Amino acid sequence: MAPTYELKGLRKVFDDGSVAVDGISLTIEPGEHVAFIGPSGAGKTTLFRILNLTLRPTAGVVRLGGVDVSGLGESELQKARRRIGTIYQQGNRVGRLRVVHNVLAGNLGRWSTTKAFVSLISPQGVDTARRALGRVGISEKLYARTDELSGGQQQRVAIARVLVQDPDIILADEPVSSVDPSLAASIVTLLRDLSAESRKTLLLNLHSVDLALASFPRIVGIQEGRILFDLSPEKVTPEMLRVLYAGDDEAIDIERLNEILSVSGLCRPIRK
Ligand SMILES: Nc1ncnc2c1ncn2[C@@H]1O[C@H](COP(=O)(O)OP(=O)(O)OP(=O)(O)O)[C@@H](O)[C@H]1O
Ligand SMILES: [Mg+2]
Repeated sequence: MAPTYELKGLRKVFDDGSVAVDGISLTIEPGEHVAFIGPSGAGKTTLFRILNLTLRPTAGVVRLGGVDVSGLGESELQKARRRIGTIYQQGNRVGRLRVVHNVLAGNLGRWSTTKAFVSLISPQGVDTARRALGRVGISEKLYARTDELSGGQQQRVAIARVLVQDPDIILADEPVSSVDPSLAASIVTLLRDLSAESRKTLLLNLHSVDLALASFPRIVGIQEGRILFDLSPEKVTPEMLRVLYAGDDEAIDIERLNEILSVSGLCRPIRK
């Protein structure tokens, strides 16, 4: 089977001259779970926007399932995008809508505009939405207003929406940065379990280094648009993390990291 993604020499320079991605080459196999970490401004979100085909790179090659996406026309791109579900920190939920509508918006790529519009008045496939919410543990919130849910529940709505979309690839950009650490861990575990169940490829950007190291078999450290390391968590050393976050000491909560690492046994303790 062709790799899910093959990236070669990817570069993104924005119009104002800022270089967000600066030569990234990477292969992701089907069903892999990978966490991307790195300081603010490293280029993680830009990379994910290139991966979900909403942003064209300035240079380099993206192969999706063996196909060079630069050769795709608009309708083929649309089709390819449907295979990719993106979970944003905020943004792809409409707060004032009921949960059911936000979840069913996962169908938008497939439905005609008319059907999507009708679904705002008389929800199509309410059972589908209820099932998806059941899988993320909040089926009772079907008719709640989305902006009246807690941050963690809203994240679950975003996951349920991606489940309805049923993509081959899930890209989650900081999916848990607005929820408390224990809830963050449970949402990340939920994403991993749901992806594993249906063999989806799962890529996450995570601010929380401890969560990334404790939960993912492959860790990619991004700094200034480049890959600093691409390793299994037990090979990630304290020095590497220090270099990755140089000048951004606040990013790592060393005590919490060690607490988790001592339980998971995935990585050696980190010293300040
Ligand atoms: N639309 C844009 N126009 C110009 N510059 C941009 C644009 N989007 C991002 N950048 C710049 O590209 C760089 C990488 O930004 P990006 O959002 O990818 O970083 P990030 O790693 O996701 O950061 P964070 O951890 O804070 O989310 C930054 O310097 C940012 O200012
Ligand atoms: Mg970002």
